[in-house]
Amino acid sequence: MKTQWKEKGYACEPIPAGTDLKAEIRRMCAEKNAVIMAHYYTQADVQAIADFVGDSLALAQQAAKTDAAIIVMCGVHFMGETNKILCPDKKVLVPDLTATCSLAESCPSENFARFVAEHPGHTVISYVNTTAATKAVTDVVVTSGNARQIVESFPKETPMIFGPDKNLGGYINSITGRNMLLWDGACHVHERFSPEKIRQLKAQHPAAKVLVHPECKDTVVALADKVGSTAALLKFCTSDDAQEFIVATESGILYEMQQSCPDKTFIPAPPDDGTCACNECNYMKLITMEKLYNCLKYEWPEIEVEASVAERAVKPIEKMLEISKNLGL
Ligand code: 13P
Ligand code: SF4
Repeated sequence: MKTQWKEKGYACEPIPAGTDLKAEIRRMCAEKNAVIMAHYYTQADVQAIADFVGDSLALAQQAAKTDAAIIVMCGVHFMGETNKILCPDKKVLVPDLTATCSLAESCPSENFARFVAEHPGHTVISYVNTTAATKAVTDVVVTSGNARQIVESFPKETPMIFGPDKNLGGYINSITGRNMLLWDGACHVHERFSPEKIRQLKAQHPAAKVLVHPECKDTVVALADKVGSTAALLKFCTSDDAQEFIVATESGILYEMQQSCPDKTFIPAPPDDGTCACNECNYMKLITMEKLYNCLKYEWPEIEVEASVAERAVKPIEKMLEISKNLGL
């Protein structure tokens, strides 16, 4: 591996002028039996070339059943790790290793393990936005698409810890009447939405419905017509009669919303500091077509998960997939 690649976190080879990136990416996928998966928050051209685009739950479900030899995960590092843990015999590539996640980083595994040890007898629920090492000290992983149902699959009196997202955990507590202990973590993108800015947009577009991801603060969730994972928000806007939607989640989702509903209007909610019209995850946006091309060509960066960590982390992920399957999610 070239030294400068390692330093930068991606294969930074110059691409010959005139290369048809789309055609070459698809050709290499066919030649190498590779599948491209992308999260809804990635750039539009990356979503457009992917074999499969989904939310965190769908991406994990898809990884578990793919028969491709190589999975290229266009998303952030923990998503690549989840794929590798589920498919240890496959090569899992993430086009830029520096695409991390502020939420996963808000929960260092040693600190979380200490928190868990301080609360014996608690069932530990971790959001999928965690490192493999944090998953290794977890009983069941959840995504925003199944958190409610998985929490409710345990008897009401079960003492529980929920990490790392205090906003999602607080929301699940509020709708299930549970009192899970919450880790104090958050996503820097979803924390940035402000109720004031959404109220202003609503005043300008009174007929618009407000779509909110549960990683947002409770004051933003309180304004929602629909709260849900990216896939749930997408489903809602395709089936609902409204023609306009104010979208309070990472703005990459607008690409898929507009593809599914070309005649409807989607208005991204801005961050609270008003620095731009929409709210983007700088980590997800690190995945570009050029990095995807080089990653397929050189089969680097590859995700590795230490065997002893993977052995423990696979159990709570498989448990999530099993409960989700039984619940028809
Ligand atoms: P979902 O894909 O579960 O909606 O999660 C959003 C997210 O923040 C992914 O990083
Ligand atoms: Fe992590 Fe937030 Fe980016 Fe999702 S949007 S990858 S939770 S930082």
